[in-house]
Formats: sequence, C-alpha cells, structure tokens
Amino acid sequence: MDAAGWNERYAGTDLVWSAGPNAFVEQICSSLTPGTALDLAAGEGRNALWLAELGWEVTAVDFSSVGLEKARRAAAARGVHLETEEADLTSYEPARDRFDLVLIVYLHLGAAELPPIIEGAARAVAPGGRLVVIGHDVENLERGTGGPQVAEVLTTVPGVLAAVEPVGLVIDRAEVAERSVTAADGTSAVALDTVVVGRRP
Ligand SMILES: C[S@@+](CC[C@H](N)C(=O)[O-])C[C@H]1O[C@@H](n2cnc3c(N)ncnc32)[C@H](O)[C@@H]1O
Repeated sequence: MDAAGWNERYAGTDLVWSAGPNAFVEQICSSLTPGTALDLAAGEGRNALWLAELGWEVTAVDFSSVGLEKARRAAAARGVHLETEEADLTSYEPARDRFDLVLIVYLHLGAAELPPIIEGAARAVAPGGRLVVIGHDVENLERGTGGPQVAEVLTTVPGVLAAVEPVGLVIDRAEVAERSVTAADGTSAVALDTVVVGRRP
C-alpha cells in the first residue's frame, strides 16, 4: 500500500492500531535504559509514544503524514515530545551509529525492498544499542491469525538475519513467537510474529 492508501486508512479519529505498545516491544524494551530511539514505520506512534513516556528521545519515521499527525497529537495529549519525519523508507538513510534503539515493527514490503531497510536500521544502531525487528511471520499463513495474507510481504527469521548479517550485530533473540490476540468475533487466537533482537557490541 502506498502513502495515500495509508493516509486513507489512518484518516478519522479512531486508532487503527492499539494505543499501547506492541506486546514484544514492551517485553523487550521495558528493561532498557532510555536513550535515543528511532522508530521506522511508526504509524500512529503507539510504540514511539510509549518509549517517549519512559524517557526515550524518539524519532518516529513514516511516509503517512496522517499517521504522524495522529502521533504528534497523541504526544501533545500525553505530555511527551516526539520528533517526526515524513519519509519513504525505501529511499531513507538513517544516520549511522546514532541510536540506542532502532525499531521496525510490522513493516511489510516486498523481498527486494525490506532487506536494505533492515540493514540501514542495523547500521543506525550506536555501539551498545539494539535493533528490534518484529513482523507478521510467514508461518502465520498456515497456523496463525491476522496480518497480510500474502507470503511475499511476510517476514521470516532467516530473512531478517540475512539482512542484518553484513552489519555484524550480536543476535540476542531470533524466533517465531506467539502473540495472543482477540479476533473480531471476540474469540482468542494466536498470531505468529518474527521477533529478532540484535545488539551492537
Ligand atoms: C502495519 S503499520 C505498523 C505501524 C507501527 N509500526 C505499529 O506497530 O503500530 C505499517 C506502517 O508502515 C508504514 N509504511 C509502509 N511502507 C512504508 C514506506 N515505504 N515508507 C515509510 N513508511 C511506510 C505505513 O504508513 C504504516 O504506518
């Protein structure tokens, strides 16, 4: 989907995603010491806002002006500051060696587009910092629920690891992890996410 499509999806006052952070972002980042963070494909900013409330200095990047405007409004309402940058990640180069935490959460692009973005994200991590990549895993098609239903845009653990490999991060976590979700009809279901956490030595 292009920026116009995402803008249309984000139009309106209701949140498309949750107000609170993604469960894995919360699990992985709660114990980290706040510093500088870069949230790539931040959307309405649920993860960026949560980090900002913990004291992180966050830059949220997305190509949806409407998503970022919602994030800025939420930041003002919640009394935190968020830097926002409207940019297409397929041509965006984050500053190298710059951030204590870089997030990519549910960015689903083709196999030619996503790996260079992940590699650039890994290069943006400062010494001692972390890269967190979370996506709807391709296994979700067979045994999970939700997310895009097109294998081409779903993530895999080997795919993310291959993308960060040239950067030489230490991999602290790389798995297909289960996330509990409530389906539209109110029943409980399980979604399968690619979860990769890398650390710059
Ligand atoms: C599924 S949403 C996830 C939003 C957020 N990470 C979260 O977890 O709530 C995917 C986001 O990726 C953004 N996006 C998709 N393709 C993009 C691109 N080429 N450049 C910048 N943002 C992009 C969309 O605008 C959308 O906000």
